Amino acid sequence: MDMDVLLGLQWGDEGKGKIVDVLSPGYNIIARFQGGPNAGHSLEFGDFKHVLHSIPSGIFRENTINVIGNGVVLDPVIFMEEILKIRDISPESLKHLYLSRKVHLILPTHKILDAASESAKGKTKIGSTLKGIGPTYMDKTGRNGLRIGDVLEDNFLERYNFLKEKHLHLLKQYDFEFDIIEQEKEWFKGIETIKQFKTIDGAYFINNALKEDEKVLAEGAQGTLLDIEFGSYPFVTSSNTVSAGANIGLGVPPGKTGEVIGIFKSYCTRVGSGPFPTELFDADGKYLQDKGHEFGATTGRERRCGWMDMPLLKYSVMINGVTKLIMTKADVLSGLKKFKVATAYKINDKVTTEVPFEINDNLEPVYKEFAGWDEDITNVKSFEKLPEELKTYIKFVEEETGVPVWIVSVGPDRDETIVRAG
Ligand code: GDP
Ligand code: IMO
Ligand code: MG
Repeated sequence: MDMDVLLGLQWGDEGKGKIVDVLSPGYNIIARFQGGPNAGHSLEFGDFKHVLHSIPSGIFRENTINVIGNGVVLDPVIFMEEILKIRDISPESLKHLYLSRKVHLILPTHKILDAASESAKGKTKIGSTLKGIGPTYMDKTGRNGLRIGDVLEDNFLERYNFLKEKHLHLLKQYDFEFDIIEQEKEWFKGIETIKQFKTIDGAYFINNALKEDEKVLAEGAQGTLLDIEFGSYPFVTSSNTVSAGANIGLGVPPGKTGEVIGIFKSYCTRVGSGPFPTELFDADGKYLQDKGHEFGATTGRERRCGWMDMPLLKYSVMINGVTKLIMTKADVLSGLKKFKVATAYKINDKVTTEVPFEINDNLEPVYKEFAGWDEDITNVKSFEKLPEELKTYIKFVEEETGVPVWIVSVGPDRDETIVRAG
């Protein structure tokens, strides 16, 4: 069996959590492959609402194994808080949560370094979630990091202190106040929580499962345009959010990748700084923000809103090799008389459909206008019953990308999901 990959095609928050939860009954294993608690994946069914940060979104499905893969960075404190919440509502869910021993640990000083570095950047700050992601991946590539597998070693404390001292030394260059004592106490409690879980060699575990014909879905965090390599650098995160990241982040060879399922919102949002060619500052932008409840699931920050950007979507489809598309938040467009999609960019009087090296003020989106629809579609259960105007938009996306739209999500609930036949 090959491993399917599900990931975001924009700047994150495309609805990955909801869709993984919807698809997870069809899989034996759900595995997060990169990122850390900068992610906020929301799940909703009936009155139940939950946001996951480090734990895969298959956790509330009976019999689904959830794996935190080697490409992830884990904050023991946030992990402990997530575990306590889940233990309260659904303790049996945690029976099948396994952690790769190669997962890197976010130290308290990584979070402090993140905050100090962002604050020193002033106006050029990235708008990081300040969860310590950048500094932890820096220590990983710098070959200084601590991993879950190190926790049980005799010299763990010694290695922790060595890295902490290194960080404290680095922090001297910043004019930044911090208090580490309390954070450290919580961190070591979090380490004890980690010790309660089964740790695995993720690569053997997943490859053996595939050999046994088990179905595995790799769950991405963030989105393609936040990828360290292919995103809007430097306004990106520090991991490979693209499909190839699933091979690295789980130890599964590229030839064993099955479907690449790419999720996009029917419009665009972005949290934090960085270029956003189709960003709206008018009543339409406000409409999308209010109707879509566009506030960050991790930081509560307002998400910037704008129209769909086809050059960027096609770029993401290309980089990831997307084989199936999922459109989320189609319901949010209901009520707009018309809406727009950028089909190209005008840069110094030249028109291009390719994403340039630098996205700046010289770039002007070229828009195609679509007729909107009035009716509320959250209760629609079949593709055929969707408004013709929405079907026209979906057809346009399929023609532009050359990839079928497989699922249309029309609300946050599990049940508000239309899976097309075939
Ligand atoms: P993720 O990070 O990709 O998992 O996405 P988030 O959970 O951060 O943000 C997506 C938000 O949109 C959450 O509040 C979801 O409950 C909500 N959502 C997901 N799909 C839909 C949809 O089709 N329609 C509406 N209205 N909300 C949705
Ligand atoms: P999910 O998985 C949206 C953004 C931050 C910031 C940049 C770098 O919920 O889609 P970092 O904390 O990684 O140093 O932040 O990336 N960012 C996200 N935006 N959704 C996310 O995750 C994000 N994770 C990071 O806002 O601009
Ligand atoms: Mg999110």
